[in-house]
Amino acid sequence: MNDLNPELREKILEENRVVHRLEGPLYLERHPEQTNFFQKRVLRRAVHKVCKEIGSDDGQILDLGCGTGYLYLKFLERGYAMTGVDLSEAMLDVLKSKIEDKDQERARLICSDVESFLEENEDQWSAIVASALLHHLYDPETNLKKMCDKLKPGGVLLIFFEPLKQKIKSPFRYQLHRLLTWVHEVAYRMEMKWRGIALFEDKYELADYQRQFGGIDPNLVTEVLRSQGMEILHLEKYCSRRYGVVAWIANRLLKSENTFNLLARLPDEPSPPAKRE
Ligand SMILES: C[S@@+](CC[C@H](N)C(=O)[O-])C[C@H]1O[C@@H](n2cnc3c(N)ncnc32)[C@H](O)[C@@H]1O
Repeated sequence: MNDLNPELREKILEENRVVHRLEGPLYLERHPEQTNFFQKRVLRRAVHKVCKEIGSDDGQILDLGCGTGYLYLKFLERGYAMTGVDLSEAMLDVLKSKIEDKDQERARLICSDVESFLEENEDQWSAIVASALLHHLYDPETNLKKMCDKLKPGGVLLIFFEPLKQKIKSPFRYQLHRLLTWVHEVAYRMEMKWRGIALFEDKYELADYQRQFGGIDPNLVTEVLRSQGMEILHLEKYCSRRYGVVAWIANRLLKSENTFNLLARLPDEPSPPAKRE
């Protein structure tokens, strides 16, 4: 267990429990950036890539921070045996209610924080997937290393839908990006108010802890995974937005980026140690 600052780590976990208890019942309604047509296409492609790498439908997949089943249900419907881990009972309850009777046998849900789970559980997985999880963690780096340790040879790791930390390359484009953000956030708030869906942004002080450092740096993730012998198969950066049309404009016209997905694979054979000069 990472004990750099156990008190802070515990506070982050507790706030995550609190905010996701509130978010649970209407989580995806509150987050249309995960369900609009643009993001659905991104999701479909990512799921397809993972399935192609696993190559069979008898694989065991671990979904960390599975929430209400955004990734979990996609893999479950493709026939995989799923284990979902989340620290929020409320989020898991919503997911439980969405699992069809015919799929119950292949669907396991565990209420735990991911770090404890990865330390205590001894299973090896064909794939580990995590959507919008890393930025909630106190120490993503240590957790990434633990995920790599839990993959079977040839197993894949999907890090999905993480807020992207990167340097601003074009200040002009960045200003346009900010303007578009402002306009569509106003529209989003009006829609939520009109639909009577409460937003809990004021409750997020520590829950998405890594956002205060600007998000997750894909270069760092890549570096950590390579240090564990993983091969990076695919890294995509793009702009996610509440509404599909706005996402389309942001990606096609502004070419702005605020989100990334990464797919990595553990080779079948461990790579030979690098030769010393
Ligand atoms: C932003 S939500 C994403 C949920 C889902 N993966 C999705 O993409 O819709 C983050 C999820 O991670 C869970 N979570 C946050 N920190 C966690 C931790 N340390 N261990 C386990 N789950 C955690 C939350 O309870 C929540 O369900």
